[in-house]
Amino acid sequence: MKIDIHTHIIPEVDDGALNMEQAEEMLKVSAGDGVGTIILTPHYSKNLHDIIQQKAKELEEMASANGIKLLSGCEYDYTQVVNQDDLITLGNNKFVLVDLYSTAAHRQLAFERVINNLTKTGFMFILAHPERSFSRNDRKDLQTLREAGMYFQLSAACLLGEHGSTEQRNAHFLLRHGFGHYVATDVHYYRLQPKLLTRCEEMVTEKYGEKTAHILFYENPERLLRGEPPLDIRPRRNIIVHMCSMFGVWV
Ligand SMILES: [Fe+2]
Repeated sequence: MKIDIHTHIIPEVDDGALNMEQAEEMLKVSAGDGVGTIILTPHYSKNLHDIIQQKAKELEEMASANGIKLLSGCEYDYTQVVNQDDLITLGNNKFVLVDLYSTAAHRQLAFERVINNLTKTGFMFILAHPERSFSRNDRKDLQTLREAGMYFQLSAACLLGEHGSTEQRNAHFLLRHGFGHYVATDVHYYRLQPKLLTRCEEMVTEKYGEKTAHILFYENPERLLRGEPPLDIRPRRNIIVHMCSMFGVWV
């Protein structure tokens, strides 16, 4: 069964589900996508810890009726993880999901803050949907983040091209160059789509091989639930990409 590590299913806490009916529909779609475990990751807000506990309880029965186990989590933006030692982690492990919306104006500050946290805390950070902010022009920043210990979660819809060609191009660039550790849905009700992970897994298998797909969709999320860091992957690449990288050109 698949594990979805980034979702917005808890009703009335963020821009995800608006009510229990929508949440139930989202759970059914996940079940139809072969998902057996969902980590609930609403956007951070005050008192979220208590809200998650309460709402997750309400969702639990619905989830188990669909064969799904729920775990708690949160999605932070980078400003919210500074100097905190009580972060809400993914499935009560050491992993923290963080969004680094890195415009040029914010980038330096964001880097200092995130890297400071990466190196000074015992947490492991996963960057949510880097394809929104990072392209091939940002390879130095990507390397800096990776060397500081950042892991990367790509979005299935972006890899499939369902959020436009720029994000698709970025997502595949990131994956080809070792900046992809997980694939998740980041599901919101307003863009709910059937079999997102299944379709993405098929595409990744075809384009990058079975081993890469297995690590992204199964092995690394399972390692996360065990509290283990993900495996780094650099998928099989075509001859042009390979030759270019030999000469230091990232395509
Ligand atoms: Fe999200």
